[in-house]
Amino acid sequence: MIVMKQLKKWIIVLAIFFMSFSGAFATIFADDGKAKTQNDEYLTKIKKRSYLIVGMSADYAPLEFHATVKGQDTIVGADVRVAQKIANDMGVKLQIKELGFDALIGAMNTGKVDMVISGMSETPEREKQVLFSEPYMYEEQAMVIRKADEKKYKGIMDFNGKTIGAQKQTMQETVAKQQLPGAKVRSLEKATDIVGQVINKKIDGAVLAGIIADSYAYQDKSLKVIYPKFVTEKSPTAVAMPLKAQSLKTQVNKSINTIKKQGLFKKYLTSSYKIQSQNSSFWAKYGNFFITGTLWTLAFAAIAVFFGSIIGTFMALMKISKNWILKIIANVYIEFIRGTPLLVQAFMIFFGTQIIGLNLSPFMAGAVAMAINSGAYVAEIIRSGINSVPLGQKEAAASLGFSYSQSMRFVIMPQALKSIWPALGNEFVTVIKESSVLSVIGATELMFQASIVQGASFKPFLPVFIAAMIYFVLTFGISRILALIETHSFKH
Ligand code: ARG
Repeated sequence: MIVMKQLKKWIIVLAIFFMSFSGAFATIFADDGKAKTQNDEYLTKIKKRSYLIVGMSADYAPLEFHATVKGQDTIVGADVRVAQKIANDMGVKLQIKELGFDALIGAMNTGKVDMVISGMSETPEREKQVLFSEPYMYEEQAMVIRKADEKKYKGIMDFNGKTIGAQKQTMQETVAKQQLPGAKVRSLEKATDIVGQVINKKIDGAVLAGIIADSYAYQDKSLKVIYPKFVTEKSPTAVAMPLKAQSLKTQVNKSINTIKKQGLFKKYLTSSYKIQSQNSSFWAKYGNFFITGTLWTLAFAAIAVFFGSIIGTFMALMKISKNWILKIIANVYIEFIRGTPLLVQAFMIFFGTQIIGLNLSPFMAGAVAMAINSGAYVAEIIRSGINSVPLGQKEAAASLGFSYSQSMRFVIMPQALKSIWPALGNEFVTVIKESSVLSVIGATELMFQASIVQGASFKPFLPVFIAAMIYFVLTFGISRILALIETHSFKH
């Protein structure tokens, strides 16, 4: 009988589950067919909005890269100046959106950015998907290797059997695949990671545009730029726009022509080099990233524990209540959340809300994910705290004429808190560590910042080591403080 009852309960739980999922699917499919067919309203739209959104992959110094300007992490470079010029000429503000290079064209064609200015070469394949402006630069293909290996590589044949890095969906990837016989090509999303792998001996070299390779070699003296005899001509770099954006193109070409006439691009490059050469210590350059990251991490943890406690209390009360509907809701929630990784939940909330038309920022999505996640654990903490109070206490309260809520407030909860409090403290510590996965959705917490520093400094270990130390100081410090409070408030 008991088995049957249990079985029934779980069948209901599963049914609710699938019902909520089919709802989600319905919205996913409803989203289809919305592909807009705008005509050439692009320019008007930008002007109406009064800012221009430009997509870039900021891993390409001196064209676009991260730098600390006045203590702030900023995307700078010659392409940024080109973008600024275009925006100025249109009479609008500039907004830069950072994306992986391989995601740029897709982002533009779905309307997330107005144009792409990212050292993008005009290629016949791309011309089928986008409209290019007049070129403002020409790019030549080169390679970076470790200086120590300089003598090993005389020509393209010497890369036989070597692993060579290239950025995903770039000309460099094609060159690496087609023109280095016998080389294994490793395609990565970010140019910074590729160079980092060369420096750290994970790969033997990388194909990069000459101007970019030079700039990396300038920053890290263990690198050397070589020009193997590739059979590619210099390729034109231009602004990419949606295929139908004719009037936008005319406008952009006006700006580019001024840039050319006045020789502005050289000036843009020079000022980029200047920013790059402002050499300072590791901490002066990147300290801010860690401080910002730590603050965000603490914010996430505080939000998670605060809202998690509210959600958790309700869920715990629902779970121990006599009402079977409330019981089932609480059970589904607690089991589902505890049975799936936070990483997956964060993705589901971030992209799921997008599907239903809610545009949550990574921070909001991360905070919601953390609160919902923590709520399930807090619910169990509270429930088991309440259950740890002997049944006799409840009966005694009842025989004294206490109502349910009175006995909860004056008899059960004060005793339950004794075991709830330390477990809640643990939860706070756990949440600090767990928030590190939110970097995947772009929440700017500590781990996210550490990975920016990894990329920018080409040091794969130091930034994560610093992050580890910060996490440790936070968690250790907090558990010490909580232990202190505990001994003080529960001393008999
Ligand atoms: N010029 C090359 C191409 O168009 C690479 C551009 C990469 N740009 C970047 N910002 N990472 O394929």
